[in-house]
Amino acid sequence: MSFITSPALAETGYVVLAPHTSPIDPAEWLDLDYVGWRSSGVTRFAPLASYAGDIECNGFWNHTPPRTDKDGVWIASQTEKAPTLTRLAQEPGANVGRCRVIELQPNSYADAIYNLHQDDNNRLNEDGTGWVVRSFVNLTEDTESMLILREDRFDPATELRLALPAGTRMIVDTQRFWHAVWHRGATPRYSLITSLTSGPELDAYISAQHGDPHAESVTLDPALVEEAQVELHRRIEERRRAFEAQGIVMEPPVELY
Ligand SMILES: [Fe+2]
Repeated sequence: MSFITSPALAETGYVVLAPHTSPIDPAEWLDLDYVGWRSSGVTRFAPLASYAGDIECNGFWNHTPPRTDKDGVWIASQTEKAPTLTRLAQEPGANVGRCRVIELQPNSYADAIYNLHQDDNNRLNEDGTGWVVRSFVNLTEDTESMLILREDRFDPATELRLALPAGTRMIVDTQRFWHAVWHRGATPRYSLITSLTSGPELDAYISAQHGDPHAESVTLDPALVEEAQVELHRRIEERRRAFEAQGIVMEPPVELY
């Protein structure tokens, strides 16, 4: 398979861009229509672009006819309420697939580690076309929270932790990384997540926004990390047994939405 990928993401699989510094009216995300859609943790989603312009979050490959995560249809009733968010999603000039605001309730580090998953952005993607990656804009001021990225799901030595103050912008190959957010706030975290197609437009945008593939990783107490590893394996085993009791073989947690 030879997809078009971004050279800027080749080395580490992510870049942190210059932050978005002008304040955005919280009404742009609070007034949107949300759908209950369980992702990594306790979440809801407000789609801005979907398969056919409806307020739903299903993967484009789960519709008829199925397609990959490209050519999302903007939802006028949502984008009218969120002009800045819509502009931020469209700003790279790359093809947009799914675009939505995610609302995540506070969780623990151990929860986040258990929630680690790889996205399925490139299902049905055609060889020779652009690889789909994700952009994130953190909307709420979550300085104590972090996006956790692991090359190896079970190896904390491969872990990178990117802090999430308001306006943090990142582009991540979320199909490469095991990822989840540890949200330490008392109120929900909101983030704009957009599926973008790799290509010259995205490359130019990353360059113009000073994409940094070596951002600083938040340091954590090794004891906390070790405890979470133990808890991860305990929960996986607990889940495996529950599935086994129902005669189901547990699949790895690949995101299907
Ligand atoms: Fe994900």
